[in-house]
Amino acid sequence: MPKNIPVMISGVGYYVPKTVVTNDEISTLVDTSDEWIRTRTGIEERHVVSGSENSVFLGVNAANNVLSHTKVNPLDIDLIISATSIPAKAYPSVACEIQTQIGADNAVAFDVTAACSGLIYAMSIAKAYISSGMYKKVLLVMTDANSRFVDWSDRSVCCIFGDGAGAMLLEPSVDGVDDIIEIDLTAMGKLGDYISLEISGKNCPLVKPNEEKPLHIHMAGRDVYKFVMTYLPEKINKTLENAHMLADEIDYFIPHQANLRITDALTERIGFNKERVIENIQKYGNTSAASVPIAMTEAIQEGKIQLPCTAFLTGFGAGMTCGNAIVRLRKGIA
Ligand code: UT7
Repeated sequence: MPKNIPVMISGVGYYVPKTVVTNDEISTLVDTSDEWIRTRTGIEERHVVSGSENSVFLGVNAANNVLSHTKVNPLDIDLIISATSIPAKAYPSVACEIQTQIGADNAVAFDVTAACSGLIYAMSIAKAYISSGMYKKVLLVMTDANSRFVDWSDRSVCCIFGDGAGAMLLEPSVDGVDDIIEIDLTAMGKLGDYISLEISGKNCPLVKPNEEKPLHIHMAGRDVYKFVMTYLPEKINKTLENAHMLADEIDYFIPHQANLRITDALTERIGFNKERVIENIQKYGNTSAASVPIAMTEAIQEGKIQLPCTAFLTGFGAGMTCGNAIVRLRKGIA
C-alpha cells in the first residue's frame, strides 16, 4: 500500500556572492545603459561569482545557512537534491560535492536540471520520496552561476543574469498538515531552443569532426517573454483550481524573478494582490533556480512575508519548463 505521509517545509535559506556588478559597469562592456536595463527588466545590480567561487560554493553556503537555522545535524539528512543548470563539473554532481562539504555523509545525492523551475521540480521529487516513506530529511539546494556562461558582449543576455543559491529543508510533517498544498509541473521540450547552453565538446580525433559551439547562453528573450505570457497564466489558474483556491485567498505570490514586466503582467492577469507580490530582481537579477528561494527567504527575514502564511510559487525557464506550487510557510522557517 503506498503511504501518503504529509510533508513539512522546516527551513529555508539563501546565499549570494559578495561581488556586485551595477548596470553602469555593464554599460562599460556593451552598448547599453542603466536606464534601458531598469526600464526593460527592473534590474539595478546583480551579484556574481568571483575568483574560484562556483555553484558548489554558493550551494554549500545556502545549505549551511538552513542547517544552522534549523539546527539539523548534517548526518541526519537522507537525501540532497541540487537543482542546477550550471554545475561546477559535469560530474561529480553538485549535490555530491555539497554532501561532502557539509558533512552529510549518510545522504543520497543527485542533481536535477529544470533551470528556473528547479525549486518546484525538486520539491515535487522530495514530496514523492517523503510521502512514500522512503526518505525523511530532504535538503534541496538550488544553485546557479550563470555569469560564468553569459557572452559578455551580448547586451540582451549579459544584463539579465546574477548568481546565487537557495536551500529548503523538507521532512515528514510533525502535525499531520501538508505544507505542499498543490504542485504542478510542465515541460515543453519542443521549445528548447528558446534558452540553451550547448556543451558540444570535441569528437574523437579519429572520426569526422563535430561543429564546436561557443560555451555561451543563447536566449531568444522575446520568445521567452511570449512563452511565459501564453502558457503560464493558464497553468497558474489550473494549479489554483486543483487546490480549490482563488488568487485572493493566497497570501503571497513569489514568482521567478526574470523580468519585472513579466511579474507585473502575470500579477495583473491572474488577479494577485499587487501588495503581496515578492520582488527582489532589482538587487539580484535573474538567479535562475535560486531566484524563488532567495526571494522567499529574504522577504521572510525582512518581514515582508508574515508567517504563517500561504504562498504561490511559480518558476519558468529553459527546457522550456514551468512549475507551480501552493505552499504553507510556517513560523520560524527562516
Ligand atoms: O529565466 C527565464 C529566462 N529569461 C527570461 O525570462 C527573459 C524574458 N525576456 C526578457 O526579459 C526580454 O525579452 C529582454 C529583457 C531579454 C529583452 O527586452 P525586449 O524588450 O524584449 O527587447 P528585444 O529583445 O525585443 O530588443 C529590442 C531592442 C533591440 O534593438 P533593435 O533591434 O530594436 O535595434 C535590442 O538589440 O533592444 C535592444 N537591446 C538592448 N538595448 C540596450 C537588447 N538588449 C539591450 C540592452 N541595452 N541591454
